[in-house]
Amino acid sequence: MTTRVPLTRRYLMCPPRYFAVDYAINPWMDPETPVDRERALAQWAGLRDTYRRLGHTVEEIEPEPGLPDMVFAANSGLVLGGRVLGARFRAPQRAPEAEHYRRWFTGHGYPDITMPSRINEAEGDFAWTGRLLLAGTGFRTEPEAHAEAQEVFGVPVLSLRLVDPRFYHLDTALFVLSEATDDSPGEIAYYPPAFSPGSQRVLARLFPDAVIATDADAECFGLNGVSDNRHVVLPAEAAALAERLADRGYEPVPVELSELRKGGGGPKCCTLEIRK
Ligand code: ARG
Repeated sequence: MTTRVPLTRRYLMCPPRYFAVDYAINPWMDPETPVDRERALAQWAGLRDTYRRLGHTVEEIEPEPGLPDMVFAANSGLVLGGRVLGARFRAPQRAPEAEHYRRWFTGHGYPDITMPSRINEAEGDFAWTGRLLLAGTGFRTEPEAHAEAQEVFGVPVLSLRLVDPRFYHLDTALFVLSEATDDSPGEIAYYPPAFSPGSQRVLARLFPDAVIATDADAECFGLNGVSDNRHVVLPAEAAALAERLADRGYEPVPVELSELRKGGGGPKCCTLEIRK
């Protein structure tokens, strides 16, 4: 079996100190269901410590009162080659998050930052394969934002249409397991029914060896995983998917994030990758 070599990552995360479900902007959020913030914080710290134990660097941004979704760092920036494309949120409740993250980047050695002019929920809807930037649209990020990302980074962007409101961000329906090499397009896992028929055909054509997720894998946010090319951090509930990844030589690393799930997010949503 292939020996999978882990690659060291740099992540930006935001502690859920003000996490709450006060409004519903995706089908997972129910303001009637109580949230245990202490538990959310403990689970979040577990995720952060897991990354550190795997040898990755985790930076932390200060959360802001009144921005309960700020913990979902992936939505606030896309960083490739040290260049940053910021966010522009669809929901007014989340809009101010973009500026807090912009300030973090400018204050931490990332002066090359572009703020988008179209709705753009960053890594929530963009996934870098090492060669292509896969880009989701349909619920949040606008297609024009895909073109904007292509101009900013000078990498080919491939638009994919999401059709199931439960999988409203690309990162709830697809993730990159290993990056492209000279003789491979990279390896991804995805849930076909989350995509339009045409987008499904594009994915099947580009990634014939992809891991195809089942309904159960997708419904527990199994596709909201984070891979370092070897270790795959994913929700503990995604046990069946974990087993299939192990068969391919990956090392699944389960994490418990049940409180943050109430906001409609999993491990990847809490993790913004800073790519040098
Ligand atoms: N409550 C947040 C929202 O609906 C959750 C964001 C999840 N983030 C993600 N990358 N999928 O915007």
